[in-house]
Amino acid sequence: MNKEKIAELQKSHEVVAEFNFEHRDIEKGYAKRTLHIDISTGKIETRPVTDQMIDLWTGGRGFDMWLMFKEITKDTKWDSPENPICFSQGPLGGVVSFPGAGKTIATSISPLTNSIIDCNVGGYFGPYFKFAGFDALSITGKSDDEIIIYIDAVSRKVTIEKAPLESVNSHILAEELTEMYADDIIDKKNISVVSAGTGAENSRMGVLNFSFFDWRRGVARLKQAGRGGIGTVLRNKKIKAVIVKNREISPAWRISKPVIPNPVKLEKCTECRGEDEIKNICAIICEWNSDPEYVIEMMQDIQDKERCISRKSIEELCLKTGVPRGKLYHIATFYKTFSLEPKGEKIIQVCLGTACHVKGAANILSSFERELGIKQGETTEDGKFTLEAVACLGCCSLAPVAKIGDEIIGNIKAKDVSNIINAERGEERE
Ligand code: FES
Repeated sequence: MNKEKIAELQKSHEVVAEFNFEHRDIEKGYAKRTLHIDISTGKIETRPVTDQMIDLWTGGRGFDMWLMFKEITKDTKWDSPENPICFSQGPLGGVVSFPGAGKTIATSISPLTNSIIDCNVGGYFGPYFKFAGFDALSITGKSDDEIIIYIDAVSRKVTIEKAPLESVNSHILAEELTEMYADDIIDKKNISVVSAGTGAENSRMGVLNFSFFDWRRGVARLKQAGRGGIGTVLRNKKIKAVIVKNREISPAWRISKPVIPNPVKLEKCTECRGEDEIKNICAIICEWNSDPEYVIEMMQDIQDKERCISRKSIEELCLKTGVPRGKLYHIATFYKTFSLEPKGEKIIQVCLGTACHVKGAANILSSFERELGIKQGETTEDGKFTLEAVACLGCCSLAPVAKIGDEIIGNIKAKDVSNIINAERGEERE
């Protein structure tokens, strides 16, 4: 992103309210305080979390409800200034040992139903906010100007800033604000931006977009809190974005292969013993400097190259990175992208998602099974094809859809399957 453009955007910011806070550790799942921001008055404050909240309103949804009931009356409508937008995590929020614990619960009165709605979303916002020392956030009021709210857990400061020039397109805005508030490229992963796009301004079903920086692709990507139209509430309050920055919860981290200092070159590696069988695996592990922090990345590269995570790979990874075998098997069997058995040279994925299902995807899958002589999840004996049934390939308008290698085939018909396989095998199409 253009540095001058970012500097120009930042220059246009005017701080209208500022609040300093002390860091607080999470103890037994709670920081025991919440953060409240009223953008009409510029009042920013923390409030204590009581034992009653913890006992009776446990969890992100419970806390959000509590905060909602504190702010609204029976007459509050979705576009009333007092209608809060609340973000919470439960006591397990941000604890990586539990699946789903990175989620944030977002709650407000819905523009679609005028009753309370909640939705949950991934991304980094929830854990970053929680580990800044807050159990929940509520934002009330309405602004006359376009603003952003910046919660900086590094300098322990919350600011409300006028932000007249930033884009309202969530993809662009997330990039702009990530660039603006990161100290350097490595710092980008410490930023999460919550925003809503122009669609939210023009409909009642606007989603909230929560960003996380994907260092593999080098872009800020978005997760959606899509239910109830809370994005519309955010834009109705004239909030362009809520940003949180926190770098205290993650270990020292590097961004991509080129910035890894002094990677060990294969020829210098003394441990691969020159064995052909493990040469490729060793090369990949060495490329990542045998750093256990990158073990999943190594496994991705090994899967791409070897088409499986073999027992040999696990042994080499264990030996060179020090990651226990049990953990490596846990990773290899938890993520669908990894396979302990070799996958075929070409992966054939047949979509069984809703749109494809109603257009006869089951028949398409049966045709592939018949043609290849295998069931879904299996690989042909010659190792050429693996057949998989998947949820949605993201191109529902072309339903029914199959993906062969990297190629998407839309509007596929059962009678075409034989020709497709023959062509893939290098035989003449009929
Ligand atoms: S449902 Fe098949 S591509 Fe989305």
